[in-house]
Amino acid sequence: MDDRVINALFDAAAQVRLRAHAPYSGFAVGAAVRAEDGRVFVGCNVENAAYPSGTCAEQAAIAAMTAAGARKIEALVVVGDGPRPVTPCGACRQRIREFASGNTQIHVGNLAGARQYFSMSDLLPHSFGPEFLPQGS
Ligand code: THU
Repeated sequence: MDDRVINALFDAAAQVRLRAHAPYSGFAVGAAVRAEDGRVFVGCNVENAAYPSGTCAEQAAIAAMTAAGARKIEALVVVGDGPRPVTPCGACRQRIREFASGNTQIHVGNLAGARQYFSMSDLLPHSFGPEFLPQGS
């Protein structure tokens, strides 16, 4: 995918990260999803005083994509401010998997400019997905 497209996703993820609600961990995360039709959806983590009720940035971006009617992730970018790029948690890997294909790109980064790229099968090898179910596609 064009570097400019990926850079724009990094910018969008870094921008929405500033809106994260992360008073408990202090770890703000932003995510940007580019759907197959080119539309971009963003999300940030939203923590909760009841800790397990908090939600991840990727989860929010995927929910926004879904609500807008898109169903295929072309690329997803996650940005946090840590010593190393933020890789999606296990539950989010499965959430990405639901809408991923063999071509889906997952880019992660931090504010210092470190970046890493993964395919879906890098992050979740031998994964379970919709096509395993009788009604799956
Ligand atoms: N977090 C995300 O939003 N995405 C990730 O990929 C990793 C972790 C959030 C969850 C929690 O609000 C905070 O980062 C610390 O774990």
